[in-house]
Amino acid sequence: MSGRRNGPAIRTRTPGELRRSRRPRAHSCWDHLYAAPLWPLHGANLGTLARTCDAVGACLALPRHSWVPEALARGNTLRKPPCVHWTGDPLGWLTRQRARGARIVGVELAEEAVRLADLPAAREPTVMVLGHEQHGIPPEALDLLDECVEIPMIGTGASLNVAVAGSLGLYKLAGLL
Ligand SMILES: C[S@@+](CC[C@H](N)C(=O)[O-])C[C@H]1O[C@@H](n2cnc3c(N)ncnc32)[C@H](O)[C@@H]1O
Repeated sequence: MSGRRNGPAIRTRTPGELRRSRRPRAHSCWDHLYAAPLWPLHGANLGTLARTCDAVGACLALPRHSWVPEALARGNTLRKPPCVHWTGDPLGWLTRQRARGARIVGVELAEEAVRLADLPAAREPTVMVLGHEQHGIPPEALDLLDECVEIPMIGTGASLNVAVAGSLGLYKLAGLL
């Protein structure tokens, strides 16, 4: 007996079909959903997050460090990169987002966090804050969060890669999961 199951034959979509099903241009700034890795350490994670931002229609908020634009360009394989908001003052930027009424959601391993499955999709302007690859979200920024979400883990590792954690959070907030 062969191990083949009886089911629909699966045909992967061709590059042409995928291209035709996508937007012709990068989405404009909807001012609705932001991924904010404001304390990055590894440039490669920024490229991965840029691709997820493009996929879900989110903007990317980044600190204006000298190395970040080049790291983003190197890690970003998109022909049309997503909308990037630059800030020289991450805490000030977050404070201003709060003041204008945006919901500030931290993605972090924290006692008070809700589980990813319980995180509702963003119905209002929302900033998703990500932590430093070694030190997490700094304490001064934790004070600015409206809520925190943790992605459950059952393995041996202490945490996920920040771009993986951020991508899962973005998909949930965008309502695409
Ligand atoms: C590698 S982790 C940092 C871990 C750091 N050693 C700490 O103790 O905070 C980098 C970032 O990824 C995100 N992250 C990683 N795993 C996560 C998880 N399971 N749930 C929520 N956020 C996570 C958080 O934003 C975190 O600050």
